Amino acid sequence: MLNSKRIMDGVFWVGAVDFSRRLFDALVPLPDGTSYNAYLVKGSEKTALIDTVDPAMTSSLMHCLDDVPTLDYIIANHAEQDHSGAIPEVLCKYKNAKVVTNEKCKTLLMSHLSIEADRFIVVKDGDTLPLGGKTLEFISTPWVHWPETMCTYLQEGKVLFSCDLFGSHLASAELYSSREERVYDAIKRYYAEVMMPFRKIIRKHLTMLGDFDIEYIAPSHGPVHKDVSFVMETHRKWVSDEAANTVVLPYVSMHGSTERMVDRLTESLSEEGIKVERFDLTVYDTGRYAASLVDAATIVIASPCFLTGAHPLVVSAVFLANALKPKLKFASIIGSYGWGSRMVPQIKGFLSGLKLDYIEPMEIKGEPGRGDLTALDAIAVEIRKRHIEAGVLEG
Ligand code: FEO
Repeated sequence: MLNSKRIMDGVFWVGAVDFSRRLFDALVPLPDGTSYNAYLVKGSEKTALIDTVDPAMTSSLMHCLDDVPTLDYIIANHAEQDHSGAIPEVLCKYKNAKVVTNEKCKTLLMSHLSIEADRFIVVKDGDTLPLGGKTLEFISTPWVHWPETMCTYLQEGKVLFSCDLFGSHLASAELYSSREERVYDAIKRYYAEVMMPFRKIIRKHLTMLGDFDIEYIAPSHGPVHKDVSFVMETHRKWVSDEAANTVVLPYVSMHGSTERMVDRLTESLSEEGIKVERFDLTVYDTGRYAASLVDAATIVIASPCFLTGAHPLVVSAVFLANALKPKLKFASIIGSYGWGSRMVPQIKGFLSGLKLDYIEPMEIKGEPGRGDLTALDAIAVEIRKRHIEAGVLEG
């Protein structure tokens, strides 16, 4: 259990760091664990707790609150349990504390955590809450990544408490983030899995947040950011329509034929000056795969035929790509079948949520011959041409 950490006079981190957690949403590996950040803001008259922690880590939060005799407000920026789950225990300790949140979040917290209606104060976008020398302002930011999400801004300290937005799954004893590659990767992985499906609405939120003078971003997962421009600029780039000269290549091979096709295409794409992010789906890390989709211009799905369709591991990866709504522009499908296949229309169906311009798919019966390998070279040439036309690659 870690003790609270001071950010500035009257503002403290009071959360929980989970160095051991290895999976989030029963889907995404956490190579560096995660944290659930709550923050305490003490004014001269009132004290507020901003968000809480995952119920499994409630004791860590309560330990940080040992020396806090009075709490007036619990600000709930988000109803998901990894931030709201400890609210009932905090309310139990502080009998007069009120939960301050928006109407939608109140409804969700009442149904998820059985909190009584009279424990709430409902606020709207732009409302303020004076604590005595410190003022909290509530900023409506729906769909990052639930409908009720909001941020809280400490006017005097210029701190944006952003909850999941700008978060990262990174357990660290350090309070602040740095520009290390490990930190950048953790922020990108987090954005990919949680925020990417909402990139168009986040783009608007980023424009709106540009009007605030922010010196600290205090998210609810991972370290606090003092390097605000770095975090804002990375997110602005990710939510933009600007794509990278990259092909994401998820594949499965049962007898080696599809893998030979993938090998040849990887080589050809590389010769055409295109970066390849290749994932063997029997051993892949879904977080790294999601992160590769953040800015890639193209996806090529490679599958053997399993019964009459795509391999189930390919179906899962394609389903995930469709759900995450990346900015992909182009796609193709390659693979090998034994006696018949319907995998091309099946995969296209699973990707129907994305506006993709398809490069002619290529299915072969059995092992690839010399002509098939040459045809794969032609796919690489076509991808290069499309990337140049789309301004992703210089001609
Ligand atoms: Fe970290 Fe949406 O909860």
